Amino acid sequence: MAGRWSALVLALAAGVVNSMDTSFNTTQDNLNFEPQWTYKCVPDEGCQRMEPMGQTSRQLNASLFQNVDVCHAVCGRFGSLWPRPGTAALSTQLLKIHPNYLRYDIQEVPAEARHIIASMTHVTSQNLLAECDGNVTELAERPLVVYIHVKSADLTLDEQTNEQYMLDVVSRSANNISVYIVADTVYGARHALESFTQLIAPTRAEFSGEKQCGLFMVAGAKIRDKPVFKHRGLLLDTSRNFLPMADIKRTVDGMAATKMNVLHWHVTDSHSFPLESTRVPQFTRFGAYSPAEIYTVEEVQDLIQYARVRGVRVMIEIDAPAHAGNGWQWGKEYGYGDLAVCVNSKEWRKHCIQPPCGQLNPANPEMYNALRHLYRDIAELMTKPALFHMGGDEVFFSCWNSSQEIVSYMKDKGYSTDREGFIKLWAEFHSKALQIWDEEYAAAGGKAPQPVMLWSSELTKPERIDKYLDKTRYIIEVWEPLDSPVLKQLIRLGYRTISVPKDIWYLDHGLWGITKYSNWRRMYSHTLPADPKALGGEVAMWSEYIDANGLDARVWPRAAAVGERLWADPTSPASAAEPRLQRLRRRLMARGLRPDVLAPGWCADHETKCL
Ligand SMILES: *[C@@H]1O[C@H](CO)[C@@H](O)[C@H](O)[C@H]1NC(C)=O
Ligand SMILES: *[C@@H]1O[C@H](CO)[C@@H](O)[C@H](O)[C@H]1NC(C)=O
Ligand SMILES: *[C@@H]1O[C@H](CO)[C@@H](O)[C@H](O)[C@H]1NC(C)=O
Ligand SMILES: *[C@@H]1O[C@H](CO)[C@@H](O)[C@H](O)[C@H]1NC(C)=O
Ligand SMILES: *[C@@H]1O[C@H](CO)[C@@H](O)[C@H](O)[C@H]1NC(C)=O
Repeated sequence: MAGRWSALVLALAAGVVNSMDTSFNTTQDNLNFEPQWTYKCVPDEGCQRMEPMGQTSRQLNASLFQNVDVCHAVCGRFGSLWPRPGTAALSTQLLKIHPNYLRYDIQEVPAEARHIIASMTHVTSQNLLAECDGNVTELAERPLVVYIHVKSADLTLDEQTNEQYMLDVVSRSANNISVYIVADTVYGARHALESFTQLIAPTRAEFSGEKQCGLFMVAGAKIRDKPVFKHRGLLLDTSRNFLPMADIKRTVDGMAATKMNVLHWHVTDSHSFPLESTRVPQFTRFGAYSPAEIYTVEEVQDLIQYARVRGVRVMIEIDAPAHAGNGWQWGKEYGYGDLAVCVNSKEWRKHCIQPPCGQLNPANPEMYNALRHLYRDIAELMTKPALFHMGGDEVFFSCWNSSQEIVSYMKDKGYSTDREGFIKLWAEFHSKALQIWDEEYAAAGGKAPQPVMLWSSELTKPERIDKYLDKTRYIIEVWEPLDSPVLKQLIRLGYRTISVPKDIWYLDHGLWGITKYSNWRRMYSHTLPADPKALGGEVAMWSEYIDANGLDARVWPRAAAVGERLWADPTSPASAAEPRLQRLRRRLMARGLRPDVLAPGWCADHETKCL
């Protein structure tokens, strides 16, 4: 067995190893002095760069590789897979492949699911080509068939979706290589296709200015895999600073590469309102930073489809009743009264957490009417069943208390103007908003009632939540710090939760105030409670201090650390994951992302030697 594969790898060696003059002569063409490293997979140490050898012995063979990527594909228990699968058995052999000889067999995919599977396999092929910058110059006329078997025709993507898959690579002979994928749903099959691409690594060289690139695949594999947590999210905030659609899509590409499955789109806030509403165009007319900084209905629909093909649900959040200002300030002008209060208040320290202030006006029925139109637009946009985030954080009572209209409304209702009175007003808002959402969701063709999300807050305090929020309807996104007991308390009370511990999974921390930056290791090391009510977690990219310019480096590869935590919940330490994360980073770069660096280049070439 080994002999045959060695021969194949040697064929590669002949193509990429340059001859080198060993004499020291400064007048000679310096190109002949390019480094000629080779890489070796050393048990317990991972891939190690070897010192250059003399001309005669410099031949690659089955245990000596041209680059660290190829080495890593077959090195270690999980090779180059990220997130690590449940179980994997990988061959140590590699086979040269070429995309022109790759074929997907979808006969075992139900007819209703073939369209989306075709899009998924297209993405897979694009990702393989990307490993070679779009041009795999090294030919390998070896047929490679990926047989896809999907059991269910159901295309629903929600928290019940079965994402498990089996992936087998079987090499019967040098020219009979098959990949078998079996999954319950198309989304499980998509994860399998992602794992398939991660079994492949590029070899690169350049001769007289001509780029050469080949692809090598692990010759045998048996992977059994499924996620530990159902909700593996990444939050993008597009209100504090706008993010162009191309950058959002690229972020979805990164999520797909790491099997994350919920894009939590915090699309509006008090700062700006970039989401187009066909029913209420005033939201963007008065809320967008500029005409160019608007997400049109078509763009949002396109994003939702784009994400779906990558196994990602888009969860839109309209934060309310607080964190709503710009975009809501036109009511008076149009004869609807104040839809929001304290908007852009000069006394921001009194009325909100950060400027600009703004809170919806719960005393004004026209506010609920505008909200109804907005919800209808969103319900029509989202694929059903839809997961909608209704916000609900950081309500400032002093803001509402500063409005005569609201205070008299409360008096009429018999609410006191102390804390508990304002809590009642706040709960009344959520109760009305939920009813409106249910009605509009049903009118848009959805099957109500679906669960909705709310941020943890004063209102969700364990001693109070039961009284105001129905646990069968609300999933609580807990953003309390690590040392807070709230997550566990809410789980004990029977609430489903999503966890975003702000002191470690907030990607903007370390850039403002007294917050501390978390590196990927710290993010990776945090574990969630093992409880069916703990649905998962999110890593959050708030955009006060970020726009498209720095986005990738701020998000990646740290978000991937959370991705692996949520997918695999590994018991091994972060240090054991670093070589695979290095490989993931280079994979993301091949796909057009610009992730931050993990360590000096030398450490990437000498795995485990910098830990
Ligand atoms: C250095 O290289 C040049 C050009 O190849 C050659 O003419 C010369 O003899 C070399 N010198 C030595 C010391 O090898
Ligand atoms: C591969 O090459 C290295 C260095 O030349 C040698 O030490 C090793 O034994 C070779 N391995 C095989 C399997 O031929
Ligand atoms: C791909 O590479 C081959 C060989 O180097 C070259 O002839 C061809 O023009 C390249 N194609 C593209 C699309 O870059
Ligand atoms: C590969 O081998 C399998 C099992 O022996 C066989 O069914 C299949 O037809 C072969 N494929 C090719 C392309 O030879
Ligand atoms: C609201 O304002 C009234 C009158 O100034 C004051 O008595 C009350 O304490 C305030 N309520 C809150 C929750 O701050």
